Amino acid sequence: ITGLRDIFLSKEEFFDTEVTVSGWVRSNRDSKNFGFLTISDGTFFTPLQVVYHDNMENFNEIAKLGVGAAVIVTGRLLATPDAKQDFELQATVVSVEGDTLPDYPLQKKRHSLEYLRTIPHLRPRTNTFQAVFRIRSQIAFAIHSFFQERGFVYVHTPIITASDAEGAGEMFQVTTLPLENIPMHEGCPDYKEDFFGKKTSLTVSGQLNGETFAQAFRDIYTFGPTFRAENSNTQRHAAEFWMIEPEMAFADLEDVMFIAEDMLKYIIQYVLINAPEELEFLNQFVDKELLARLQNIVKSDFARVSYTEAVELLSKENDRFDYKVEWGCDLQTEHERYLTEEVFKRPVFVTDYPKDIKAFYMKLNEDGKTVAAVDCLVPGIGEIIGGSQREDDLEKLTKRMEEMKMNLEEYQFYLDLRKYGSTRHGGFGLGFERAVMYITGMSNIRDVLPFPRTVGNCEL
Ligand code: 4AD
Ligand code: MG
Repeated sequence: ITGLRDIFLSKEEFFDTEVTVSGWVRSNRDSKNFGFLTISDGTFFTPLQVVYHDNMENFNEIAKLGVGAAVIVTGRLLATPDAKQDFELQATVVSVEGDTLPDYPLQKKRHSLEYLRTIPHLRPRTNTFQAVFRIRSQIAFAIHSFFQERGFVYVHTPIITASDAEGAGEMFQVTTLPLENIPMHEGCPDYKEDFFGKKTSLTVSGQLNGETFAQAFRDIYTFGPTFRAENSNTQRHAAEFWMIEPEMAFADLEDVMFIAEDMLKYIIQYVLINAPEELEFLNQFVDKELLARLQNIVKSDFARVSYTEAVELLSKENDRFDYKVEWGCDLQTEHERYLTEEVFKRPVFVTDYPKDIKAFYMKLNEDGKTVAAVDCLVPGIGEIIGGSQREDDLEKLTKRMEEMKMNLEEYQFYLDLRKYGSTRHGGFGLGFERAVMYITGMSNIRDVLPFPRTVGNCEL
């Protein structure tokens, strides 16, 4: 059985030969003595047109096939230079692998994304999700290629962890207690969190583990699931999402930004080359500016602005914001989008944030107020990457962690890295789903996750 991908990508080789294909019916139109099926097999975006005739013994069965039925078709592939599609399959045999029922929800009409979220087991069969999830897969591959080509070592950091890598207290607890013994909240007298006697949670970031490997392999990256128990019910937050976290020893903030920009351009270029049909579809039905935007990003340099400069720009426009901007405040999505969509009109790196709104591990700048942090903001989404140069000075790091009332014992391993051959180093985290949203034009994180886990939702 030949995949449609092979046929579409080297069609001339198949013209006038007999082929057998398999797939699911997308549409079926029959006239008195012949009919057209379009079928998709999932290996290629564009469906194949199949023509069948009443000289076939099961003509009536074929004519009755509903959308969604699974079939195996043998026939001759004919070039059709005058028709809408370049070729069609003149069927000699259509055998029905699995018929479908008339209540199949995905009939040939457009369904809303909200409705499709209620059928996560069926939505991968639609055009939109065929495009999104193939691109998601390609982006993952491109990310691995990018780092592997540059000699980065892929580290599998743990999912169950004992320390809060971001110090933000947004951890899901892991416990081996029998279900009936788990108290619902901390006020309960029996409250206990344990993993065979130790307090543990699901990881919010692989960074701290990644840093230990960077101090051995120099350049490393992680790529895995991360979990945040933040109660953010927005279009760009999920409780379970994937993150890519490169970490580089002997690197400063400049190096971090250089790799981040290079990586984003590389993956966009990869998808432009490898998913043209999918991007064309998304450009037509999801976001009319998608292709132009992606092509533009590959060509132009990202903008750069310091947090302090950004606050100056933003506070002049305070009238238009729900949250007013002043130095020291965290930037909200509306501010991030204003900067990238109205001011710079392209991706922008914002650097040197106030230390009080950033994580404990970021390197203190000479001004004593800001840290060597960088966020990459993109139009349509806002923050897609968060990174920094790390504090590599044992004393300064210890002081900061004490200020933040952190339990130093839990972080001994992390402090050790600053005792034995400490190097300047840094890295970033790319939110994988945000990258997929950016490259597909989808505006809700629930529509780029195969099975989204968001506030109040954990189906399937
Ligand atoms: O900015 P964050 O919290 O940074 C870190 O976790 C660092 N340890 C990264 C590092 O320096 N190694 O998260 C990084 C990125 C964000 O920019 C965002 O794209 C994504 O992860 N992200 C989320 N994506 C979806 N849902 C959520 N709840 C997310 N929280 C963060
Ligand atoms: Mg961040």
